[in-house]
Amino acid sequence: MSPADPAPAPAAPSPARSGRGVFVVFEGGDGAGKSTQVRRLVETLRAGGHDVVRTREPGGTPLGETLRGLVLDPAHAPVDARTEALLFAAARAAHVEQLIRPALAAGRTVVSDRFADSSAAYQGAGRGLGVDRVAALNDWATAGLVPDLTVLLDVPAGTGRARRELRDGRDGDRLETEPDAFHDANRQAFLALAARDPGRYLVLDAVRPPEELAAEVAEAVHARLAGHPRPTAEVGA
Ligand code: TYD
Repeated sequence: MSPADPAPAPAAPSPARSGRGVFVVFEGGDGAGKSTQVRRLVETLRAGGHDVVRTREPGGTPLGETLRGLVLDPAHAPVDARTEALLFAAARAAHVEQLIRPALAAGRTVVSDRFADSSAAYQGAGRGLGVDRVAALNDWATAGLVPDLTVLLDVPAGTGRARRELRDGRDGDRLETEPDAFHDANRQAFLALAARDPGRYLVLDAVRPPEELAAEVAEAVHARLAGHPRPTAEVGA
């Protein structure tokens, strides 16, 4: 390139949508039933011969799981909001780079329990850092990776709390034990994010029976998969 040539355009971030695999994320408040729905979807997809990577945030890699332990441990309270947002974003950057992008590039389906919207909601709205600001931080951390489908399991804060108490007793992690007002702010932020990009979200009333929710999720995911090549899991994988 001669010095007179125009500078090349900066490399565009490569959203998952342009990759070969399909990236599905579950979001929602604590006690929404994400783990159950993630498990059911992964079972359904695998039974249909799809090669699926199941993962979660914070976590997904050894570094991410270590950061998870640090950021959720009540022994570290109080953690200021910026530190908290950066720890989640750091775990996410490693997760995307080390696990999610390689899996999508290999044509695998990735199903993650939480992703960047959790930070936009919990740290942006709940902690008051600003939804757009935290979303921008995470856009940088993920180099622009966007899920193909985000399933938002919507529950009122009180319902989520009651379910958590039933599940775990009264102890929860540093975020779960925040008051209902915190969880309600998160909920409104999730709903607002979904409303901005309705084609990419499936918003479900998570108070409904799990079987019904699982059926709707499976239908939506199969619709996304229909447009993609379909690598099958190797025998024994
Ligand atoms: P989660 O794994 O859903 O909780 P559980 O262990 O009960 O299944 O998430 C852990 C907590 O971390 C949850 O309260 C939400 C919070 N969180 C954030 O605040 N920001 C984030 O970016 C993420 C991924 C999670």
